[in-house]
Amino acid sequence: MKLSIITIANFFISVSCAPAASYAVHEKRHVGDLRWRPRDVELDSRTVLPLSIGLTQQNLHKGHDFLMDVSHPNSPNYANHWTLEQVAEAFAPTLETINAVKEWLASFGIDEDRISISKSSSWIRLNSTVGEVEKLLRTKYKVYEHSETKKPHLACDDYSLPVDIKSHIDFITPTIGFDAYLIEPRRKRHSNVDQYYLPGDLETFFDNLAPNVPQNYLPTVASIDGGTLQPSISTEDWNHNSEPDLDFEYAIALVYPQEVTLYQVGDSVEGGNFDTFLDAIDGSYCSGDNPPDPTYPDPYSGGYKGPKSCGQFAPTSVISISYGRDEGFFTSSYMNRQCNEYMKLGLAGVTVVASSGDYGVAGNYNQCCTNAGCVGSSGEYTNQAGAAGTFNPSFPGTCEYVTAVGATQMVPGAAITAAEVACEFSIYSGGGFSNNFALPSWQTSAVETYFEYYKPLYSAVLYNNSGRSRGIPDISANGAFYLVALDGVGQHIFGTSASAPTVGSIISLINEQRIASGKKTVGFINPVLYANPSAMNDITRGNNPGCGTSGFSAVPGWDPVTGLGTPNYPALSKVFMALP
Ligand SMILES: *[C@@H]1O[C@H](CO)[C@@H](O)[C@H](O)[C@H]1NC(C)=O
Ligand SMILES: *[C@@H]1O[C@H](CO)[C@@H](O)[C@H](O)[C@H]1NC(C)=O
Repeated sequence: MKLSIITIANFFISVSCAPAASYAVHEKRHVGDLRWRPRDVELDSRTVLPLSIGLTQQNLHKGHDFLMDVSHPNSPNYANHWTLEQVAEAFAPTLETINAVKEWLASFGIDEDRISISKSSSWIRLNSTVGEVEKLLRTKYKVYEHSETKKPHLACDDYSLPVDIKSHIDFITPTIGFDAYLIEPRRKRHSNVDQYYLPGDLETFFDNLAPNVPQNYLPTVASIDGGTLQPSISTEDWNHNSEPDLDFEYAIALVYPQEVTLYQVGDSVEGGNFDTFLDAIDGSYCSGDNPPDPTYPDPYSGGYKGPKSCGQFAPTSVISISYGRDEGFFTSSYMNRQCNEYMKLGLAGVTVVASSGDYGVAGNYNQCCTNAGCVGSSGEYTNQAGAAGTFNPSFPGTCEYVTAVGATQMVPGAAITAAEVACEFSIYSGGGFSNNFALPSWQTSAVETYFEYYKPLYSAVLYNNSGRSRGIPDISANGAFYLVALDGVGQHIFGTSASAPTVGSIISLINEQRIASGKKTVGFINPVLYANPSAMNDITRGNNPGCGTSGFSAVPGWDPVTGLGTPNYPALSKVFMALP
């Protein structure tokens, strides 16, 4: 009798407790992406869903201080960078986190033999089904279709987690995100100059403009997940070649004989994105297949069939990213997790520079948001590109561990030595204040000065005008009239995509000098730049219009159009050479 009562009591407790487990929303999307539309089909609950659970890493709250210790010019440990192994170890999730998530999965009947834990335990992965995940995360999935590629994608509008599990999980994919691929339509911005046709664009460029670079010289190609140099000339798909051509013609010409590596991310079928790249250089980040991150091996015909390039590439000492996406497009957790990866690269002595965008204060394609605080969870895009709305700055430039690079131009007709102005020809230098990242310590004084003397009159609906959020860009470089050999033709290209590799090349030259005198690479450069503003040519004229406004204005000192100004190479190199 007694025994059966206990059994009944236990049974009773277990059924009454399970539904009572308290859940709370973990992530929610309000921002739609007009290019992804829900398909009007009933989703089969048996559809396989490869789930990736990003575990909370330890010590992230110390990341900033760790990085300052090796990057601040006043630190005795300046440039005393960590090894990648030390970095991975410092931030790996705790055993408590791993076990808590495993137990939660087990309570839904998902046994240990169905899950796999990534190297360094950053991710738990399992092949689940839509039905199972809908119960696990108290959500509902829909099939979306991309308007151009027609690729299907499974997503939900929000998802929830038990309150006692929330702190152990960063985010889960695929859920609310619509990530994009790096290869994107870009505006064609060129005028034809001396038309000629030669098989190799780089060779054409070097022959004509950088004769010190030998014939047939090519960058080293790190092929990530099937990435290859686009071998064919493609006038239809101008975008395919413009970015690598531009980046490598200038980077090689500037740093030769230093080696330049091309991380070609993703095959030509699925492409790649920031995650694909980060996976390849940091095995501990490697997230497996997180749709809409491309899936490797590529299931599509003609795609790359090899294994995913997880942690197979050592990062180079300078990484230049000529792509950006609107903050309004990403969820906070997605941006934060990636941003922490850039912090880790800085700790390992890697400089990451990224273009600040080409649409002034607006997002890509002039898209602005309808609400204040425009990140993926609280704003919605205006339907019409170019319409008034909330400013929409570009990620990853807004990540405080990245050096955001804006664009300048020469004044037409002025002397070649005359001061440059913010670029207003063909593109506008991306700039503004983050809606996701707070003001970093090394930028505080620059931003405070800007707000004290030059605070624009825009309301808090248009941008975060508290003076407490991260401002971009940090630095700028000429971004107008880059003569590029492209598809055999000399063309002019404009954009912060040109400015970023230029700054990256300068940092690379400084690294070379430091290494030649027995020092280490510079790594994360922002604290040094802001402590030495006179090593930049201050840009004080020009605007970055967008979202129905004239944007911000370049002013003396730091500004959200051109940052601290353009690098003065001899001055900057002197600053870095004087550091330990
Ligand atoms: C999920 O299934 C795919 C395809 O069968 C397999 O390659 C992959 O290893 C599985 N993942 C896990 C975590 O079991
Ligand atoms: C502005 O940014 C700061 C720092 O990130 C943040 O604390 C504040 O909530 C933001 N204000 C708005 C209205 O989003």
